[in-house]
Amino acid sequence: MKDLTPKRGDLEPIEIASLDEIQALQLERMRWSLRHAYDNVLFYKKKFDAAGVHPDDLRSLADLARFPFTVKQDLRDNYPFGMFAVPREQIARVHASSGTTGQPTVVGYTKNDISTWADVVARSMRASGTRAGDVVHIAYGYGLFTGGLGAHYGAERLGCTVVPVSGGMTPRQVRLIEEFGASTIMVTPSYMLSILDEYRAQGRDPRESPLQVGIFGAEPWTNALRTEVEEAFDMHAVDIYGLSEVMGPGVANECVETKDGLHIWEDHFFPEIINPDTGEVVADGEQGELVFTTLTKEGFPIIRYRTRDLTRLLPGTARSMRRMEKITGRTDDMIILRGVNVFPTQIEEQIMAVEALSPHFQIELRRDGRMDEMVVHVEAIPAAANDDARAASARLLGKKIKSIVGVSALVDVLEPGAVARSKGKAVRVVDNRPKE
Ligand code: DLL
Repeated sequence: MKDLTPKRGDLEPIEIASLDEIQALQLERMRWSLRHAYDNVLFYKKKFDAAGVHPDDLRSLADLARFPFTVKQDLRDNYPFGMFAVPREQIARVHASSGTTGQPTVVGYTKNDISTWADVVARSMRASGTRAGDVVHIAYGYGLFTGGLGAHYGAERLGCTVVPVSGGMTPRQVRLIEEFGASTIMVTPSYMLSILDEYRAQGRDPRESPLQVGIFGAEPWTNALRTEVEEAFDMHAVDIYGLSEVMGPGVANECVETKDGLHIWEDHFFPEIINPDTGEVVADGEQGELVFTTLTKEGFPIIRYRTRDLTRLLPGTARSMRRMEKITGRTDDMIILRGVNVFPTQIEEQIMAVEALSPHFQIELRRDGRMDEMVVHVEAIPAAANDDARAASARLLGKKIKSIVGVSALVDVLEPGAVARSKGKAVRVVDNRPKE
């Protein structure tokens, strides 16, 4: 793998500013953002008034903890445009969640917001090792999902040659990467695995591909998967984080030179970690639920949004701004099996430690009598797909899950190709337990 560390002179001054400078900027911007939300969104005015707080009460960054949280249901209740802080005519773009689990949630951007978004994605890509002039293959879905267009504007802002492929048609993905000479790919990590399979199916050596950087996000993935993809393609794999309610991709990103967690672009997005049960802010370094307040967004400012993502805050390393550890999972993806909390990422880690297994997996929850049970459906690699080898891998994985994760799971090792493939975010947990 090539050393792709960006030159210090190419960084924006704020990326390497002192903490004092960053905090002063945050305070000034936070004041503006609270005031903007309060003055222009009835929802925030009512909520702040009911909590007995006013934007003028913010004297230090820590005062933010006095303000009420915002949750996904608030967006649903104000569907579609009730939380916009500018007249609808000034909204240049909307994005929305798919709405498969209920009312979709809608977010809006002014022209300035789209420009800020392009800036933070460009900054993220530079941190990942991508440079102006690189060919960037974007396989995040385009459309209402923020992945495709968010990556697209950032890649254009950085000065790249953008290939807007979107997800799907995997054989074509491989052809275009090869024929257009893409050096960066932006895609979900689970779909990258399908692209890897396709390389092998076409008899191409992925290590010979032009790819040098993969910018993977939109779903949790582990360091074990990073190693697998980096070795398979001889490329850097870095993590990009974001969510529609806060902006889209580009809220935080790893640096290619350190790969030690994601630097949060704190000049635009202010993070807090709370205890998800009590709502109390916890100290940096402690695990909890990530909460964000936007500092510069005009169209859709959001104050103390509970992401449901679990992580912890760490001091800056390659950049001054704080890092968040790779996301362990979402509070709503956490499986509680006979009293033990299990995240799909923990299962992924154990699967990656068994050489005869591929990283394609899905967890099924079912009920046997009164007991909940977890079945891990996972594929064998082609070289270990016979009955004996599969039975041996199943035993080995079951043992690892039991001893390291601490739960008993049934392991179902399938033929290569048997686990449903995602073209975007993978569905890691299927709950087949009878509804109460
Ligand atoms: O997934 C935005 C995005 C697109 C991020 C492309 C990165 C790349 P949503 O569809 O609103 O937005 O989903 C946001 O996805 O709260 C996390 O649970 C999860 N997520 C996003 N990035 C990561 C990541 C986009 N790097 C939700 N690691 C978030 C773990 C992630 N989970």
